[in-house]
Amino acid sequence: MRTLIRHLLATSEPADSVTIQGWIRTRRDSKGFSFLEVNDGSCLANLQAVVDHATPGFQDPHPFTTGASVTVEGSLVPSPAAGQRWELRARRVTLVGAADATYPLQKKGHTLEFLRTIAHLRPRSNLFGAVFRVRSRLAFAVHQFFQSRDFVYVHTPIITASDCEGAGEMFRVTTLKGDPDARPEADFFGRRAYLTVSGQLEAEIFACALSNVYTFGPTFRAENSNTARHAAEFWMIEPEMAFCDLTGNMDLAEEFVKGMARYALEHCAEDLAFFNKFVDKSLMERLRFVTERPFQRVAYTDAVQILRASGRAFEFPVEYGLNLQSEHERFLTEEHFKSPVTVFNYPREIKPFYMRLNDDEKTVTAMDVLVPGIGEVIGGSQREERLDVLERNLAFHKLRAEDYWWYLDLRRYGTVPHAGFGLGFERLLMFLTGVNNIRDVIPFARTPGNAEF
Ligand code: 4AD
Ligand code: MG
Repeated sequence: MRTLIRHLLATSEPADSVTIQGWIRTRRDSKGFSFLEVNDGSCLANLQAVVDHATPGFQDPHPFTTGASVTVEGSLVPSPAAGQRWELRARRVTLVGAADATYPLQKKGHTLEFLRTIAHLRPRSNLFGAVFRVRSRLAFAVHQFFQSRDFVYVHTPIITASDCEGAGEMFRVTTLKGDPDARPEADFFGRRAYLTVSGQLEAEIFACALSNVYTFGPTFRAENSNTARHAAEFWMIEPEMAFCDLTGNMDLAEEFVKGMARYALEHCAEDLAFFNKFVDKSLMERLRFVTERPFQRVAYTDAVQILRASGRAFEFPVEYGLNLQSEHERFLTEEHFKSPVTVFNYPREIKPFYMRLNDDEKTVTAMDVLVPGIGEVIGGSQREERLDVLERNLAFHKLRAEDYWWYLDLRRYGTVPHAGFGLGFERLLMFLTGVNNIRDVIPFARTPGNAEF
């Protein structure tokens, strides 16, 4: 029976008979024996196997090259070498699959750009092994965070007919040949259908029945922006709470980001230490800061004042009524507040129809959580629960009330104040690992022109 290297390295006792299986990272030959560094992806560290050239299966060491897969049976013994506690004295070695000299992952470091071209092999590198282990643990942490607070997990649909964000960035789903707009009623679903940009509207339905819910699934945006923070397919977590206002929503959003940072520090220590050393030297300091200090909060109008008074020459203009650009968000969080910051109450013109109108009739209860290094990681709002105001909002945004009849029904029958937000899972992972391109925290990135793997 095979044991994962992670468990062997954590053990406190030698073991007489163990079996490991994995991929050779390097082989070093000495007189009469070889050292095999074996990695099985269960942790960052390799286990060193010491293999005598008389060992069964190892009479010819040459096929045991970098990238080859092996089974090694032997004894786990204290290692005399510095920097490692254990090594495996081999009694039998089996070459499971050879790898010839064209194997592209060699010991020397590779650029992230190159590794993206071999997305089928990059999980075998130290960096990507660490990224995807952290991704898995954090996905678990997301569920634990909400389940422990009695939120109900709702699977919202991937194919939908409604454009939640109203930004016109939807991928069309059709089985028609030719122009799908010619006869949408003849299409598969009898109407125009798209890949979802957000599960929010459906989550609201469930919040207005089960009180506190969340979604966690893939979302899609056909925005043709080739930035380090945008993907065409990304995972979003969207909690939605009934009987909740903007303040309750901001509280949960900040607690959530803090909770994820705390979980990473506690459960991904080895991988974070690696990121801190090789990817971003300020990572640990930043994560500790985030878990320990309160976030700042600032109204959009005040944020605009701060940006205008900064004396900075921004590429994009700063003016009331314009969206904050990434450079503005990063100035606020990295330079002005030097902490995560939640910006709230944005002008209604630049936000979607569902956000609750404030008494000033100019702003809506939007909130964005901005973090250093990334900018926006969360976007959310309190929702408009008043039927007449919602109908006016739809008209204001030039949307047809009949397309949202079921959404309006929620306000017709037992309406409640409610609020929620969406957190981009990849942006969170960028924040928690220091990896600064979204393409490198998702197994197979979908960006304009890229869908190979
Ligand atoms: O701010 P957004 O557009 O908000 C919504 O979709 C709301 N319906 C959420 C809600 O209230 N339930 O997106 C939410 C988050 C952003 O803050 C960002 O982290 C992430 O989703 N995001 C993206 N991540 C990667 N690539 C993209 N193209 C993204 N667009 C948004
Ligand atoms: Mg947003």
